[in-house]
Amino acid sequence: MLTTRELQDKILHLKKEKNVCILAHAYQTHDVIEIADFIGDSFALSRKAQSAPQNTLLVCGVRFMAETAKILSPNKKVILAHPHAGCPMAEQLTVEELRNLKKAHPNAAVVAYINSTAALKTECDVCVTSASALKIVRNLPQEEILFVPDRNLGGWLAKQIPEKKFYFIDGGCPVHMQITAEDVVLARKEHPDALVLVHPECKAEVTSQADYAGSTTGIMEFAGKSDAKEFIIGTDNIIAEHLRFAHPDKKFYVLSKKCVCEDMRLITLQEIYECLMGEAGEEIILEDEERLKAQTSIDKMLEMNA
Ligand code: 13P
Ligand code: SF4
Repeated sequence: MLTTRELQDKILHLKKEKNVCILAHAYQTHDVIEIADFIGDSFALSRKAQSAPQNTLLVCGVRFMAETAKILSPNKKVILAHPHAGCPMAEQLTVEELRNLKKAHPNAAVVAYINSTAALKTECDVCVTSASALKIVRNLPQEEILFVPDRNLGGWLAKQIPEKKFYFIDGGCPVHMQITAEDVVLARKEHPDALVLVHPECKAEVTSQADYAGSTTGIMEFAGKSDAKEFIIGTDNIIAEHLRFAHPDKKFYVLSKKCVCEDMRLITLQEIYECLMGEAGEEIILEDEERLKAQTSIDKMLEMNA
């Protein structure tokens, strides 16, 4: 049996030999982060997918991230490291349902969270990520916004953009929605000097009590730059672990033990090694028509958040 270090060395050798760029979402575990070429939130990964010089992209994240990479780099081979790594929120609204919502709100700009299928993206005006949403939605010319599928991220935006009227569906991230207001009260009691940093996928009862809400890497950057010494992290608990590595002089606690995205955890070093050997993973193939239509909304996001 190989040690973690030996497996990592094999991966580092193979990715160089095969000219593969490993893109890892910040929710990947530390052993995976160490062998990645690039680590980021959904927005940063989209940008990187466009500019990476390698001809193959191995996406260590969930399906919508690999689809976004393929949409932005159609001439590259894009592999999703585990075929079952999906985001349950991406499946919460069908294209048919979105078409009906558009009929009900004909004057609204249709804004889709990037955590959505490529098919859904073909029906929206612009995509957003948690890092780019505020600037983009604020600058849209429309006064009405149909925001799908995450009601919590949408509600967080609506609070900060009161001049616009928002319409939502009953969608959201099942992982972040497990965190409750009670968790914040208890964590603050236990760690009275700590700042509470959460992802806007959390429920309003949680984000309204936080000191900062932002994307996964937004949370990490905030903790790094802050003068505070203790932080309570309200997003996938792996972020607290990454922060402990990055800032050994600071203390990081988790807001809820339950906040772990099992889909992200499907990706392991062994899986990555097998992908590089051509024995695992799934190559993302999208029909040209769907890809081109979906690309319009992602291009608009990148342009509006330049
Ligand atoms: P970020 O864009 O903040 O990385 O969020 C992606 C995600 O799925 C968080 O649950
Ligand atoms: Fe999807 Fe939630 Fe997992 Fe993020 S944490 S990938 S939104 S299920």
